[in-house]
Amino acid sequence: MTAGIVSVGSYIPPRRVSNDELSKILDTSDEWIRSHTGIRSRHIASDEETCSYMATQAARMAMENANVSEKELDFIIVATISPDYRDFPATANLVQNELGAGNICSFDIKAACTGFTYGLALGRSLILSSTVKTGLVIGVEKLSAITDWKNRSTAVLFGDGAGAVILRRGNGGEDIVDSIMRTDGSGANALYMPTGGTSTPFKPGETTESELCISMDGQRVYNFAVKVNVEIVGELMTRNSLTSADIDYIVPHQANYRIILAASKRANIPLQKYYLNMDEYANTSSASIPIALAEMDSKGLLKKGMRVITVGFGGGLTYGGNYIVW
Ligand code: ACO
Repeated sequence: MTAGIVSVGSYIPPRRVSNDELSKILDTSDEWIRSHTGIRSRHIASDEETCSYMATQAARMAMENANVSEKELDFIIVATISPDYRDFPATANLVQNELGAGNICSFDIKAACTGFTYGLALGRSLILSSTVKTGLVIGVEKLSAITDWKNRSTAVLFGDGAGAVILRRGNGGEDIVDSIMRTDGSGANALYMPTGGTSTPFKPGETTESELCISMDGQRVYNFAVKVNVEIVGELMTRNSLTSADIDYIVPHQANYRIILAASKRANIPLQKYYLNMDEYANTSSASIPIALAEMDSKGLLKKGMRVITVGFGGGLTYGGNYIVW
């Protein structure tokens, strides 16, 4: 029995914000952002484009592409750190209702930029270990809602959007062959939202706006990201007796061009194997890998039987990946 990706979909908010536009509200420049991150623009959601709305649009596209109806869905997994509601209900539940799916299993994953790779691993496990056959794994973020727009160190990095895949049980063909999910909680404060949880609740008159936004130690995250990127890709290749020549594409979390360049050099894997699109969408956390997969699909780059590795890394600190036969 196999569990594989049979279709992909995405939703990108139409509003595109260039680096030049950002440099009108922040002390930054197109040159600094491009040279330090590879980012040229990001797409920013409107008030109406909520996390659940974007997730539902991406899900509908994936369902159409696989000719799967809402009644065929057995589960919905949503990876996000910018849900419609802070703690509950899960955004996956809102998507279940929007799609008109049955009263199926639905839940959210908070694994930041690793969320989608965790979602694929968990969806695969559900299919291989229970009676469920078909499900959605969605990565979605409205990071603009939790970005400190006065802090140039973080505001230039992030964007909004959603990507979704349909996973289905099969007897060969498409297959998520192997998955890794890891965490190093000692780095929890390297990238986090400091305030608003039960340990440091919101206090009217005391809590500042920036304390309710993403806080990041950029250098610490950079060092971690390069290290685990090399580790996960290497381990997936070793465990599955692959060399980089056997891999058609590595689809990394789209955080920063410099992270991927350093990882490619350290792993001695040609940069051309890595699919990159952070120049257009910036870092969309949980959504970046499925948005990249949907873009690759629409360009006709993903062909049956291709070998693809996904690798995620981010807040938590979390990291992981999947080896997929398309
Ligand atoms: N525009 C202009 N100048 C800036 C900006 C900006 N947007 N941001 C920071 N600077 C300035 C700083 O103030 C500093 O100035 P100073 O030397 O006068 O003090 C200077 O640029 C250098 O700042 P650094 O933070 O040292 O810059 P660095 O070269 O480390 O790049 C970056 C920062 C891009 C964030 C880098 O640390 C990085 O890539 N980290 C990885 C983090 C990441 O990608 N996070 C995304 C979320 S996590 C994830 O997805 C895994």
